[in-house]
Amino acid sequence: MNDPQGGVPPVDWEERYRTGQTPWDTGRPSSELQRVLKEYQIGPCRTLELGCGTGTNAVFLAERGFEVTACDVSEQAISLARQRADRANVAVQFLTCDLLELTDLGEPFPFVFDRGVYHAVRRENLAGMLAVLQRVTVPGSLWLTLAGNANDPEPREGGPPQVRAEEICRELEPLFAIVQLREFRFDAACIDGQESRPLGWSVLARRR
Ligand SMILES: C[S@@+](CC[C@H](N)C(=O)[O-])C[C@H]1O[C@@H](n2cnc3c(N)ncnc32)[C@H](O)[C@@H]1O
Repeated sequence: MNDPQGGVPPVDWEERYRTGQTPWDTGRPSSELQRVLKEYQIGPCRTLELGCGTGTNAVFLAERGFEVTACDVSEQAISLARQRADRANVAVQFLTCDLLELTDLGEPFPFVFDRGVYHAVRRENLAGMLAVLQRVTVPGSLWLTLAGNANDPEPREGGPPQVRAEEICRELEPLFAIVQLREFRFDAACIDGQESRPLGWSVLARRR
């Protein structure tokens, strides 16, 4: 795929899961997701998680009564996610697919979540991602995306792709009104053998 941002090769996600190079996969529900749910009183509803990885957050949401559909392009990740949901005894509709090809998901979703997906997919096909978000939401729907932050004073090789605040506003504002744009630290991950908490952007946006 094209890389308009300058030479960043596309990630082979299946290979990353197959070889265990998944520093983002903490196995614990995202603290920032939990904060936003609480602060904005987002309760159980139809929810779509884009790029759900091994399903930690999808299962966390399902355990709290959310009706979750979650997709990931990696078969290995979705297989692990299904096992996680079985262990937790919750129902999640997991789909192995490229989010850019999502169709026929039924009623629109009041809440969409991604952790570490917009910041990667925007490099390859931002317009495609926004078109999907438009299809799966209605005016008033909320989208929470957690993305790498270009203000990180200690960026680590192997850390998340980074985005600048003005890029977020420019890219999202035509379709979404930004409700909250806030710096946060990702939960601790082991990056290149060292524990790290990369600086992130927590972006809560409401579909126009
Ligand atoms: C940084 S990981 C984050 C995984 C998960 N959200 C988490 O927090 O553990 C990015 C995830 O997005 C998935 N992904 C990347 N591009 C995708 C696409 N076009 N369609 C579906 N999933 C994608 C990858 O397979 C990977 O699981």
